[in-house]
Amino acid sequence: MSSLSYAVTAFLAATQFFALAEAVQLSQPNSSSNPWRIWDDEAGGSDTFAEYYPVGNGRIGIMLSGNPSTESIRINENSFWSGSFLSRVNPDGLSTVREMQEAISDGRYKEAEELGLQGYTGTPLSTRHYDKMGNLQLVQILPGGETANYERWLGVDDGVAGAYFSSGNVTYQREYLASYPDDIVAIHLTANQPGSINLRVRLDRGSDLNRYQGYSEPANGHSTVMGGQSPDANPLQWAAGARIASSGGKVTTLGDTVRCENADEATVYFQSWTSYRKSDPKEAVISDLSAVSKSFDEIRAAHVADYQEYAGRMSLNLGDSTSSQRSLKTSTRMNNTTPDNFDPELASLFFQLGRYLFIASSRPESGDNDLSLPPNLQGIWNDDYSPMWGSKYTVNINLQMNYWSSLVTGLSDLRTPLNNLLKTMNGRGAVVAADMYNCSGTVTHHNTDIWGDSAPQDNYTPGTFWPMGATWMITHVIEHYRFTGDKDMLADMFPTLKAVAQFALNFLTEHKGYMVTNPSSSPENTFLVPGGSGGESAAVSPGPTIDNELLWEIFSFIPEAQDVLGIEDEAFAKRVSNMREKLPPLRLNQYGGIAEWMEDFEEANPGNGHMSHLVPLYPLHHITSANQTLFKAAITSLEHRLENGGGPCGWPRVWTIALAGRMFLPDIAHSRLATQMGECSWGRSMLNMGGTAPFQIDGSLGVPAAMIESLLQSHENVLPLADNSTALQAAYTGDKGKLPLIRLLPSLPKTWSANGGGSAKGLRARSGFVVDLSWDSDGTLTAASLTSEAGNSAYVTLGKTPVGGANNGTAIQNSGDGASGVFIHLDGDKGSVHTITLA
Ligand SMILES: *[C@@H]1O[C@H](CO)[C@@H](O)[C@H](O)[C@H]1NC(C)=O
Ligand SMILES: *[C@@H]1O[C@H](CO)[C@@H](O)[C@H](O)[C@H]1NC(C)=O
Ligand SMILES: *[C@@H]1O[C@H](CO)[C@@H](O)[C@H](O)[C@H]1NC(C)=O
Ligand SMILES: *[C@@H]1O[C@H](CO)[C@@H](O)[C@H](O)[C@H]1NC(C)=O
Ligand SMILES: *[C@@H]1O[C@H](CO)[C@@H](O)[C@H](O)[C@H]1NC(C)=O
Ligand SMILES: *[C@@H]1O[C@H](CO)[C@@H](O)[C@H](O)[C@H]1NC(C)=O
Ligand SMILES: *[C@@H]1O[C@H](CO)[C@@H](O)[C@H](O)[C@H]1NC(C)=O
Repeated sequence: MSSLSYAVTAFLAATQFFALAEAVQLSQPNSSSNPWRIWDDEAGGSDTFAEYYPVGNGRIGIMLSGNPSTESIRINENSFWSGSFLSRVNPDGLSTVREMQEAISDGRYKEAEELGLQGYTGTPLSTRHYDKMGNLQLVQILPGGETANYERWLGVDDGVAGAYFSSGNVTYQREYLASYPDDIVAIHLTANQPGSINLRVRLDRGSDLNRYQGYSEPANGHSTVMGGQSPDANPLQWAAGARIASSGGKVTTLGDTVRCENADEATVYFQSWTSYRKSDPKEAVISDLSAVSKSFDEIRAAHVADYQEYAGRMSLNLGDSTSSQRSLKTSTRMNNTTPDNFDPELASLFFQLGRYLFIASSRPESGDNDLSLPPNLQGIWNDDYSPMWGSKYTVNINLQMNYWSSLVTGLSDLRTPLNNLLKTMNGRGAVVAADMYNCSGTVTHHNTDIWGDSAPQDNYTPGTFWPMGATWMITHVIEHYRFTGDKDMLADMFPTLKAVAQFALNFLTEHKGYMVTNPSSSPENTFLVPGGSGGESAAVSPGPTIDNELLWEIFSFIPEAQDVLGIEDEAFAKRVSNMREKLPPLRLNQYGGIAEWMEDFEEANPGNGHMSHLVPLYPLHHITSANQTLFKAAITSLEHRLENGGGPCGWPRVWTIALAGRMFLPDIAHSRLATQMGECSWGRSMLNMGGTAPFQIDGSLGVPAAMIESLLQSHENVLPLADNSTALQAAYTGDKGKLPLIRLLPSLPKTWSANGGGSAKGLRARSGFVVDLSWDSDGTLTAASLTSEAGNSAYVTLGKTPVGGANNGTAIQNSGDGASGVFIHLDGDKGSVHTITLA
């Protein structure tokens, strides 16, 4: 952890900080000696945005190059979208849906798509898009000559980024943070000689663009503020401002630039608001900047404490890196990472970066009116005024993956922004359900924006025709409840869950004896049209596996939820249960894999990046090793995709790491993690490459969950066959009396133990257990400690012994009650701690 020692006492007088002119002691930060720092010996280039360091407080995101003399800090505010809500339901939507249903039932898929491209698509075609707010231009006037001793870093241990360099005879340091408790960005500039800080700060929104910009002006002698509004009937107003506060020296404004001359040290504060949260964003920005009264040290201390409160909830150790690995800068270590060259401490840093980014981009707001928003495709770090895919919320895997890690790594209390969006979608989606489908309940297609726009998105055939976005997203509420047992959260979200189910009850139509979604598709995948000419492919079909399985899950859970919440609605429970029985079952396809569609189509794109047909294995859990037929077929499906180039860089690869863990395929999990690091990430920032976008946040945020799947699982459920029995039967969502099964080290890759063993502390398992576990260099469990936080019981086992099989796995024992066996029951008294070792 970096801590500067200041020989200064600062006090606030009027709007300036004055201090005794004494030199700050600065020394080379030696980031290589801190395993929790991403670091570099050069600043980011002017157009290498994805190699900058991301900093955020949930609402505001900044991206840093650490350039010594002219730093163009990219600024984002998470409510800054291209405009206000757009009502986009196609006026011919309902009649087109009816025609498409008929054509699809008849196998006239291309015809259905052709109609849909005019009558189903949104009018206009797209939701609002996320926008970059602009740049904070930070010019630091240096003594001249070469800059030397350069180092920049991002600390995932303290949530602070920095840069260090010397120029002339002066050594400089910057620290950058985005504070949640003080709701402001602060950049602190110091030098080891008094009077050496000379700065110019101004804001722009593209030097030659000024899009939606109405003003850029000085304020209060120490600040600059720019802003404007979207060109709408109901415009979104925005403002961004920066202030310099210095210790010694002089702060003035000239034009819309803030100048700081000959200061001993200085802090640049940045604030931004839009009319999504503030009625007068400009006034809010100016008054927030003026009101800053804490010193940087106080702001920093509060920020670090707040960040560490979340970041410190869990730790991961995958063994020791070699001293030569440790001596290298991050980009070289990333580049050196291959399946045969593992760097354990770097892998742990890669893991914790996912949690860092989540804490920096998903923060609930305090007070009654929580307007917090979840991270979009780029989190809150976008550098483009026309970002790839609009940097929206894509809900056919991407927003899902953004939240995968939060439950299992102890960050469930940071999920409110997601639940807020689901509630917003519920309201908007009810209008789409009624107008486009003549259905009750709510529907969302494959994208949404901050206004919950739920109409179809784009005219991209494999993506557009999919009405199950809200259905997949609502399973996050179910999982949230499973991990935490939080009944208040479940009660709050139940109306949304119910509305999603109500839509399905209305929308499903009969096809070949089953009740199915139609029109629908298996997200972004295509098949060869049976009898079609010349390899003709299509995307739409009735009842794709993903839809059936998402609905199976929510229909199964609703009666459970009603029981938990004391909702007496037997009729509704019966309706969903009856409908569940009419869904098409899981089946095998011609390759012996899990069928992706109801018909056993030939795949047009067997290496597709989406693993939609494996959703019932991960993230859901209808397919487990208790049913070896389905489990082996799922493995065949994964292998089939991989053999055909599936699981390419980014979120698809991260998904395969999770799938491999859940399938007990440790070598695949390991090698895909290694290539995600070595080939699919920006070496300097460790951020996930985004295919055609510079980067995409999902592939970074999903990493912790994907890796943990090899260390700890809790998605299976069991029914004891007798009260005292360890003979267990597999159970699934909706079964009464089931208990979760916690698997310790189900699929530990050899490389994760070979460098001195390892440990994980503070993992969360379903039913409210906090799990610490450690293993030796052979990968053998040393000990595990399971603490019941929710007062629920569970079973625990070591390794991958299937439920309902021969029970011939490794016996473990509970030092508390002496119980031993392959599967042992954990009594879940609240606060009880169970220590598990080999028997
Ligand atoms: C970095 O290492 C140098 C030389 O070993 C030492 O003088 C300096 O104090 C170290 N800096 C920090 C911040 O630990
Ligand atoms: C650095 O210090 C040396 C000796 O103190 C002096 O001769 C030189 O002019 C200084 N250089 C700068 C750029 O201030
Ligand atoms: C990455 O490693 C490859 C060899 O593995 C090497 O050719 C290349 O120069 C390295 N790139 C960087 C940026 O270190
Ligand atoms: C909409 O559904 C209702 C029954 O819920 C039905 O009475 C009505 O005719 C339908 N309208 C159209 C246009 O299909
Ligand atoms: C496995 O699942 C398939 C498909 O649902 C089912 O037909 C079969 O009976 C199941 N096998 C076991 C052992 O439960
Ligand atoms: C478990 O309970 C059954 C009756 O349900 C009894 O016959 C059996 O002896 C018990 N076994 C143990 C190990 O207590
Ligand atoms: C456990 O039993 C299964 C099924 O009989 C068998 O395939 C497996 O090899 C056995 N495992 C061990 C460790 O004996």
